Amino acid sequence: MRLFNYSLLLLSLIILSGCNAKKEKEKNTASLSDRYKNDFYIGTALSADQIEEKNPAVDSLIKKEFNAITAENIMKSMFIHPFKDQYDFTLSDKFIAYGEKNKMFIHGHTLIWHSQLAPWMQKIKDSTEMKAFMKDHITTIVTKYKGRVDSWDVVNEALNEDGSLRKSIFLNTLGERYLVDAFKFAAAADPKVDLYYNDYNNEEPAKREGNINLIKKIKAGGGKIDGVGIQAHWKLQHPSLEEIEKSILAYSALGIKVAFTELDISVLPNPKDLNGADVNQNFESNAKMNPYPQTLPDSVQVKLAERYASIFKLFLKHKDKISRVTFWGVHDGQSWLNDWPIKGRTNYPLLFDKNLKPKKAYNSVMELKETKQ
Ligand code: G3I
Repeated sequence: MRLFNYSLLLLSLIILSGCNAKKEKEKNTASLSDRYKNDFYIGTALSADQIEEKNPAVDSLIKKEFNAITAENIMKSMFIHPFKDQYDFTLSDKFIAYGEKNKMFIHGHTLIWHSQLAPWMQKIKDSTEMKAFMKDHITTIVTKYKGRVDSWDVVNEALNEDGSLRKSIFLNTLGERYLVDAFKFAAAADPKVDLYYNDYNNEEPAKREGNINLIKKIKAGGGKIDGVGIQAHWKLQHPSLEEIEKSILAYSALGIKVAFTELDISVLPNPKDLNGADVNQNFESNAKMNPYPQTLPDSVQVKLAERYASIFKLFLKHKDKISRVTFWGVHDGQSWLNDWPIKGRTNYPLLFDKNLKPKKAYNSVMELKETKQ
């Protein structure tokens, strides 16, 4: 009898350790991109160092967790086209090679943007010269990566908060016709690649209306537009899920894809008169504005996890309309939000902390997909 009990105990222990080992293995191999593989791409923005695989730990995290990539800076015009007759494709070639090697969805960011322009571009005053620049810039880059880039941000941030057109160098020299032209040049260079318009705060009612009109105008003018990018530089309380959902529905009703292209959630206080993601706005720092310089209190970790869970729940509800969800960076240490709108703060907007450890927010996003859907 005693021998029987002993054997039973031993058997139970063996089964239990088998289960634990299985759970442990699942924990080590489970990843965001794998969990969401039947829903939408899960992407990240890569810095120049990450494209060059300089840090092996960061590199293996990227390869494990993400199946889509965007270059955070190196494809912007000042880097890729520094002089009128000179392009620099050194880093963009490496970026494309990285995506191909790892079988990732490759997104190009960005062709026409008023910010981060090379100094020579800022001097263009004449409409003929500007149109020639746009044609050369778009055609050269899109042709070079034809069939290798999966989607492009053709125009970035052309709208004001009230939905009117931003008085950018492009609008000032060419009038609103530049929008249709940009999309036409891109489609002519690669007819199969997906073309997006990308902006921040375009889930807010007034800007959303402006964005819808803009998309309609591009279509009416004969431009090919396949999707809208909602950047999603969001906060713990704002925007509401209701406005996000209205936006998904309104944009997809236009027959285009919706992508969340630069997702991060700031947990820090904002200067009062700041709205949006305009990098030209900067404010003074003080202790009140940088409340968590060492670690994020657990209560805020929990809030961030809940916010991410509610957002991803909504994304899953509309997964048939959403093509991609991309985080604006791999880990907190790299986020642009540590230096904007106030320099030198410590923010915690992503799913991995600066030591590359998954946060509660990571678990909350993963747990939504634990049960089979
Ligand atoms: O290239 C210089 C380098 O030579 C110099 O040593 C260094 C010193 O600070 O600065 C480097 O430039 C920085 C650049 O990133 C590249 O690292 C700029 O100072 C810095 O302002 C710039 O910030 C980027 C910002 O766009 C500029 O527009 C952020 O990293 C990037 O995350 C941010 O991304 C934008 C999206 O493209 C569009 N939507 C909004 C989003 C957040 O602003």
